[in-house]
Amino acid sequence: MVTLAPSTHPLDLSAVRDRVDGVLAGFLADKASAACAGRLPSQAVEALADHVMAGGKRLRPLLCVTGWYAAAGQVPVPEPVVRVAAALELFHAFCLIHDDVMDNSPTRRGRPTVHRTLADRHPPDCCTLQTARKFGTGAAILIGDLALTWSDELVHTAGLTPGQLAMLLPLLDVMRTEVMYGQYLDLAATGHPTTDLDHALTIIRYKTAKYTIERPVHIGAALAGGTTALAEALTAYALPLGEAFQLRDDLLGVYGDIQITGKSPLDDLRDGKHTVLLAIALRAAAPHQAETLERLLGRPDLIETQAGEIRSILTATGARAQVEEMINLRCEHVKDLLNHADLIHPCALPALWHFANAAARRSA
Ligand code: IPE
Ligand code: IPE
Ligand code: MG
Ligand code: MG
Repeated sequence: MVTLAPSTHPLDLSAVRDRVDGVLAGFLADKASAACAGRLPSQAVEALADHVMAGGKRLRPLLCVTGWYAAAGQVPVPEPVVRVAAALELFHAFCLIHDDVMDNSPTRRGRPTVHRTLADRHPPDCCTLQTARKFGTGAAILIGDLALTWSDELVHTAGLTPGQLAMLLPLLDVMRTEVMYGQYLDLAATGHPTTDLDHALTIIRYKTAKYTIERPVHIGAALAGGTTALAEALTAYALPLGEAFQLRDDLLGVYGDIQITGKSPLDDLRDGKHTVLLAIALRAAAPHQAETLERLLGRPDLIETQAGEIRSILTATGARAQVEEMINLRCEHVKDLLNHADLIHPCALPALWHFANAAARRSA
């Protein structure tokens, strides 16, 4: 049994974050210069750079580097691995920019979303609000596509060995496919939340758990030559943690403080998202509560007092408390796994432990 001391971090996550941010800032600055030199629309690069550098927890790059340590031990992280970690953040930027279009979200990371920013910048004197919004949506789709393309470029210019590339590329393929299926499932269920809890759990596994936790640690471990058995141990840790992470996101998406989350607490309710929280509430609701939920969920014009009514029902039915319990169970389970994780190099354990706590308790 490994004794974990959460205060000792052989892996310095904040130093890793700085290195990843350095790669992202340098790469995007080069893209901005190339756009200016080629008289191409630098507005697109600037909007992407503003989004990427506006904040974010950098969870995927940090987990990628943690995966490297899990396999390699306490060996300094080579630059090509940091570039792959940064590529995962650009892939995440692609996911978020397109997600905000699909979810019609006005804010992200405490500022207007990319599609809203671009719509607001469209010349007001020559177009209607509708034309500006149409431009913003189309431009955000393209900027998301640029993030995806450039995430690829960061990978193939990273300086990896042929052996590392051969391990990495299939993992990137599968990660992208999973998240896109997950987002498709999410979208298809939007507008008509039901009592189907299993389906809600499938959605969060595919749209979040895999690309946020599982694949980043797999990728880091694979770059260090990690075994299949190690990847399986990391999956056992990553999937429940990824589910806990999205369950927390769902709670924050309804009860969170926009000043802290940077995201509107009306989005999921206005969209009528089929979340675990709502599936449990619909199962437990008395007829009058179910009637109110059915009447209000999915209304694009939902106002704060109506959102308050929904929140009261989610709390009164016990759905909020049950989701808290599901998060705790998953986080305790993964911490238990870490106490017996003999395949994971001990120097990665404090960081993995830290992520288990952060997923459960985070407020943003
Ligand atoms: C938001 O991800 C989207 C989800 C998968 C829940 P994060 O919570 O990691 O977002 P940032 O990068 O910190 O903004
Ligand atoms: C998270 O989607 C999954 C992806 C972005 C791929 P959500 O729609 O649940 O996340 P937030 O709450 O907008 O960040
Ligand atoms: Mg969203
Ligand atoms: Mg979404």
